Formats: sequence, C-alpha cells, structure tokens
Amino acid sequence: MKILLTGGTGFIGSHTAVAMAQSGHEVILFDNFCNSDCSVLDRLQSILGFRPAFEEGDIRDEKRLKEVLQTYRPEAVVHFAGLKAVGESVQKPLEYYDNNICGTVTLLRAMQQTGIKKIIFSSSATVYGMPQYLPLDEGHPLSVTNPYGRTKLQIEEILSDLCASDPQWSAICLRYFNPIGAHESGLIGENPRGIPNNLLPYVARVAAGQLQAVQVFGNDYDTPDGTGVRDYIHVMDLADGHVRAAQYSQTHRGWIAINLGTGVGYSVLDIIHAYEKACGHPIAYRITERRPGDVASNWANPQRAFELLGWKARYTLEDMCRDSWRFQQNCR
Ligand code: NAD
Ligand code: UFG
Repeated sequence: MKILLTGGTGFIGSHTAVAMAQSGHEVILFDNFCNSDCSVLDRLQSILGFRPAFEEGDIRDEKRLKEVLQTYRPEAVVHFAGLKAVGESVQKPLEYYDNNICGTVTLLRAMQQTGIKKIIFSSSATVYGMPQYLPLDEGHPLSVTNPYGRTKLQIEEILSDLCASDPQWSAICLRYFNPIGAHESGLIGENPRGIPNNLLPYVARVAAGQLQAVQVFGNDYDTPDGTGVRDYIHVMDLADGHVRAAQYSQTHRGWIAINLGTGVGYSVLDIIHAYEKACGHPIAYRITERRPGDVASNWANPQRAFELLGWKARYTLEDMCRDSWRFQQNCR
C-alpha cells in the first residue's frame, strides 16, 4: 500500500515508517517539525538504505495537504501528528484544540475532497480515564481529565460521526498504552526537548548522568510495591500494530477502536530496576508526592488486536530498556 504518515518524523511515526517500509509498503512522511527535526530523515535513510519521501507541512494547512494527497494519492493515512504533553495541555488548551482537533478536521476534509477514506488514528489509553476495572478493554467507559485527553476522545467521536455519515470511510483508532524503547539500530528513539515528562526518557537521562535522580511520584498506591503500574509497550511492537492495521483497513469499513498494549503491568520501581540491568549501574531515585491526575494502575486487554489484526506484543521489558539505553548512548 501507499501510506501517508502525518507526524512521520516523530517518535512513533519514524518507527512505524521503518516497519511499514520493511513490510513492503510505500511511505510518505508529512511533518512540520514542531517536535522533531530533519536529522530523523538521515537516520531513516541509514536504517532503510533509501530516503523515504518527505513533505514538510502543517496539518492545519488544507491547501498544502490537498497538494500532497493529490501528488502521491495514498490509499490510507496514518495520523500521528499532534501535541501530546498532558501538563502543557492544561496550560495551553487552545493550542491543543487548534493543533489536534482543528488539524484533524482539516486533514479529514482534505482526505474527503481527494477521495481518500481510510485513516488510522493515534489514540491513547488516556480515553479510559480512571479505570473501573482491569484489564481495560475497548468497551470500558470513556472519560477524560485534561485537554490533551479530551482532544483524543473528541477526535475519536469525530471519526465515528464521519463513518456514520458515509459508509465508505474506515477509521481505526489505535489506543496506545505506554510506548517506550527504540529501534534496535539505536539511530532513532525518543528524545524529548527539555526535561522529560514521561518516566522512561527521564530514567534514560538519569542513567546517562544528564539528570540527577528519578522522582518516583508516590509509593502509597494500591499496587504491589506502592508505585504506579502501567502497560509499557516496545515502540517496534506498536509500529507492527500499525502495519497490521493498515492491512486490515483494506477490507474494513466503519469505525473501530483497538487497544495496543501488552496486557502486562510494571511498576515505576520495576522499570528503574530493569533499566539498571540494561545500563549496568545503579540509577538514583527518590520518592516524592503523587503527581496530580495519575491513576494507580492501568493495563490493556489486547485481545481485540489479536483477533482482528493477528497482532501480539513480542518484546519484553528487558528488550525495551536495552534498546532505549542503546539509543540514549547515541544521542549524548
Ligand atoms: P511526537 O511528538 O514524537 O510526534 C508527533 C509528530 O507530529 C512530531 O514530529 C511533530 O513535529 C508532528 N506534528 C505535531 N503537530 C503537527 C502539525 N500541526 N502538523 C504537522 N506535524 C505536526 O509524538 P509521538 O510520541 O510520536 O506520538 C505520536 C502520536 O501518538 C500523537 O498523536 C500522540 O498524541 C499519540 N500518543 C502518544 C503516546 C506516547 O506516549 N508517546 C501515547 C498515546 C498516544
Ligand atoms: N512517573 C514517575 N516519575 C516521573 C514520570 C512518571 O514516577 O518522572 C510515573 C507516573 O506517576 C506513572 C508512570 O511513571 O505512574 C508512567 O508515567 P508517564 O508519564 O511515563 O506515563 P502516563 O501513564 O502518565 O501517560 C502516558 C502518556 C499519555 C498517554 C498514556 C497512555 O504520557 O499521553 O501514557 O496510557 F495517554
């Protein structure tokens, strides 16, 4: 298939570009570099042996999008582009609504006008809000606690309305749990600007001596060791989930949500200890207050992804930490 990846030079987009290209698909990356840079294209060239097609642009620019869609005529769009920092979304809600929601509506309009009606959307487990039961399946009630989460939920609803209005549309909302790790080459990975908000990039920088100690946000949760439990998934497993979703979109019509997670939860301390093994030295940490808005535990029921896509996570926590550390050492 020929597939356009919005946000294709970002963390998940770049890994998906590798997996798609190596599965024989033709990819076109589209990005405005607001949270990535063009060096990713050189790195993708080193991994793939060729430079993937790239078009610079903003998903809020309908004219530019139509130009790109008309030039390449992709069969499907995988839509990663968006802002993703929960804390920032509370400070700057309008930026999040504009970029994520207005950007998606603009993209969908451009797709509709060019007759491209298959979309795979980067949704998030954040749409489940406070878990009422575990593991989280796709039928779990939905709720959100911050503007970022609201953009994901509203985009899912917009996609559902669109599919209801026109039976030719296929919208697959992939609800990611916690993507971590990096490509095994160590050439691409997650390298956030400034102090990382998420656990793994923070742990990686402490391991590399760039930050002093991990702050563990609370050890009084109702979990085996008191620290928060999440379903961490290797980004290459996630990438493979997109390859299979793209294949599925060839025959699928209508709207569907599919979890991409491993089905296994690990605590913050589990992660720190697994990373210590990967990097070969102790990682300093201290227990601090809970972070407002955090839930104690969440992990996926990944059964639907297995049944519909034949997809199952293969990488272990050890693999995730090893690959993250390899990338971290390359980006000093
Ligand atoms: P990322 O920031 O690394 O990648 C997003 C890419 O989109 C960046 O390259 C950025 O430059 C680009 N972009 C943003 N706004 C754009 C716009 N208006 N026009 C064109 N390009 C734009 O983030 P990521 O971790 O790769 O996440 C990809 C998607 O997955 C996002 O939608 C995110 O919300 C979602 N998601 C991520 C996680 C996670 O933990 N990383 C979890 C659940 C869902
Ligand atoms: N944590 C720490 N210290 C840190 C950072 C995080 O102890 O410095 C803890 C958190 O309290 C939580 C766990 O590590 O228990 C994971 O936190 P992350 O910030 O890495 O991830 P979240 O589960 O909070 O959220 C992430 C993304 C969301 C996405 C969600 C999907 O940031 O955008 O996964 O489940 F929606």
